[in-house]
Amino acid sequence: MASHFFNLLFTFLLVLLFHISPSTSLTCSSQTFSSNTRFTNCTDLPSLKSFLHWTFDPAKSTLSVAFLASPASPDGWIAWGINPVAPAMIGTQSLIAFKDSKGVMTVKTYNLTSYKSITESKLMYNVVDSKAESADGMMKIFATLELPANTKTVNQVWQVGSAVTDGRPAIHKFEPDNLKSKGILDLATSADNKTNATSSSASAGQSGNETGGSSTILKTETNFFAFLFFIGVLLLQL
Ligand SMILES: *[C@@H]1O[C@H](CO)[C@@H](O)[C@H](O)[C@H]1NC(C)=O
Ligand SMILES: *[C@@H]1O[C@H](CO)[C@@H](O)[C@H](O)[C@H]1NC(C)=O
Ligand SMILES: *[C@@H]1O[C@H](CO)[C@@H](O)[C@H](O)[C@H]1NC(C)=O
Ligand SMILES: *[C@@H]1O[C@H](CO)[C@@H](O)[C@H](O)[C@H]1NC(C)=O
Ligand SMILES: *[C@@H]1O[C@H](CO)[C@@H](O)[C@H](O)[C@H]1NC(C)=O
Repeated sequence: MASHFFNLLFTFLLVLLFHISPSTSLTCSSQTFSSNTRFTNCTDLPSLKSFLHWTFDPAKSTLSVAFLASPASPDGWIAWGINPVAPAMIGTQSLIAFKDSKGVMTVKTYNLTSYKSITESKLMYNVVDSKAESADGMMKIFATLELPANTKTVNQVWQVGSAVTDGRPAIHKFEPDNLKSKGILDLATSADNKTNATSSSASAGQSGNETGGSSTILKTETNFFAFLFFIGVLLLQL
């Protein structure tokens, strides 16, 4: 009985080991874009396996973003937006990407005013350009927004959903991961100085290291709980 236990344990540890390595490389610093699109900064968002690549131009107050996430189902949707009031869903000036009735990726704008239903509308920010793509189970929203002059931080909110009904993104789940998908994006430290290539590339490397590190911790925690669960099941069987 005991050796059976240790065999299982060993197998599980092997699985755990191989499980960690590929997932840690899935951080924004390893993501690239097909066209000449480049962003000065990227952030591994803390929930819903989502990523934000961004460039802020303080002189023009324009924020260019690429938001990447996996919709909750292939026919679902992904959303990213800015809330001028608070990091919360209601009030968010959002961009939502999904497949239209012909199966073509589209991105539309919504001023979110209710938890129950949404209506396409203009945003309080001018959206200079936007497009959506889908590949390898991920959807991407590209957009450039004109923010009020002297914007230093924004409340960002993101979300994923599993269905689009009659051309409208349907309500998302209210799991913990869906509820904590909001935060503050600090634009003030954006790398806008192309003249200082050496110092900015050094700090870009550093921030990539940091974000990669924290998501390793997250992953290891998840694995730890999976491990506890496994031991629990095993003890029940003994
Ligand atoms: C968004 O909706 C709120 C509530 O209806 C409204 O007060 C606000 O003016 C709207 N914003 C835009 C840009 O339409
Ligand atoms: C960019 O460079 C200018 C001139 O050296 C400096 O004053 C400014 O603080 C720099 N901005 C950033 C974001 O590093
Ligand atoms: C370049 O970076 C260095 C080190 O951070 C700094 O001392 C210098 O002022 C920067 N130069 C410009 C033009 O921003
Ligand atoms: C953006 O990137 C620059 C260097 O590329 C870095 O100095 C700055 O801290 C980053 N900002 C944020 C909010 O990560
Ligand atoms: C990268 O992360 C490791 C481990 O967290 C740390 O020891 C190291 O100092 C970091 N390197 C940089 C350049 O931040």
